[in-house]
Amino acid sequence: MRLSDCHNIEDFRRLAKRRLPGPIFHYIDGAADDELTCRRNTDAYESCDLVPNVLAGVETVDMSTTVMGRKIAMPLFLSPTALQRLFHWQGERAVGRAAEKFGTFFGISSLATVSIEDVGGMISTPKMFQLYVHKDKGLNHAMIARARDAKFDALTLTVDTIVGGNRERCLRTGFTSPPRLTPRSALSFAAHPRWTLNYLFREKFELSNLKDHVSEGTNVALSIADYFNTMLDQSMDWKMAEAIRAEWGGEFCLKGIMSVDDAKRAVDIGATAIMVSNHGGRQLDGSRAPFDQLAEIVDAVGDRLDVICDGGIRRGSHVLKALSVGAKACSGGRLYLYALAAAGQPGVERALGRLRDEIERDMKLMGMRSVSELSRDNLRWR
Ligand code: FNR
Repeated sequence: MRLSDCHNIEDFRRLAKRRLPGPIFHYIDGAADDELTCRRNTDAYESCDLVPNVLAGVETVDMSTTVMGRKIAMPLFLSPTALQRLFHWQGERAVGRAAEKFGTFFGISSLATVSIEDVGGMISTPKMFQLYVHKDKGLNHAMIARARDAKFDALTLTVDTIVGGNRERCLRTGFTSPPRLTPRSALSFAAHPRWTLNYLFREKFELSNLKDHVSEGTNVALSIADYFNTMLDQSMDWKMAEAIRAEWGGEFCLKGIMSVDDAKRAVDIGATAIMVSNHGGRQLDGSRAPFDQLAEIVDAVGDRLDVICDGGIRRGSHVLKALSVGAKACSGGRLYLYALAAAGQPGVERALGRLRDEIERDMKLMGMRSVSELSRDNLRWR
């Protein structure tokens, strides 16, 4: 199987599975507990159908939308995700450059494997920095100041990781970053020589944005649950979120909002966007799917901030459904991570190209000339 055999996100997933050592593939692919929420995030899109209009004169369609103050060329962007150079040596640089080619937002994580400045200087595409709130207040202030200096367009505060989710695939495979050598992981690395040689001989990477704040002697081979449980601040509350919003001063997004009450509080503290998200099912299993929660959240706050539907997107038609309900844009993680792991920057570009073509084709088939024409009139619930 090669990149040219990848026609949809499931194809990229299959190729990623072949190319990555088991612990790393399962870190991307896995989710919490029984992974019910992860599956539901995608299945939710089957709970309604699109009802097209025809003969609408659709030689050109405008897929652009405006989110967090920036116009993006397609209504789908790249959510922040950790550790991208572990998946492919090109990591965040490849993902950022691909986002730039497609004119869409690119999010980098607090747990990125390149520095804030590296990404800030490299790409002109709209970019958001995703902040986890650490117990170490100096680290939080430093990251906010660095993102501002590097001219990031938005700060995204992730609020659904107050403790680490129970990711059993990671427990079973012993996933850590950097990877630890055990007899079992050694076998897996030996079976994936291309990944292993790149890992060993390309430029070394680290958690560039954390490294100056991890005291000497700390074991940096962390499972993600260890990181959440030991370094993040569980006393985090709305007052602290508001203070971070004020410190940042610009476009501010809360990522991980699922209830109408919280969406209203996001408005109250001055957020300009929310990502309706359950972290791709990686935190609270049994949580509802973002798409299932979207309508009530849009109805409550959609006229006061940008509502973004994050997670489970695998098809252009999923994006059309979320926009029809009232999302300003959609975002996703695995949809580009599988492609990154499969083939680096050309992989991410191919995945984004396939999704953009699906969105455009489906808009034409729906008889829609611009995303603003999509509405609930063209949806029916099963
Ligand atoms: C994530 N996600 C995430 N979110 C975040 O705020 N900071 C982070 O560092 C990460 N890291 C991360 C790693 C991996 C491997 C995945 C799969 C996800 C969550 C991410 O931003 C997004 O919410 C989900 O990926 C959405 O679900 P889908 O699109 O993967 O189904």
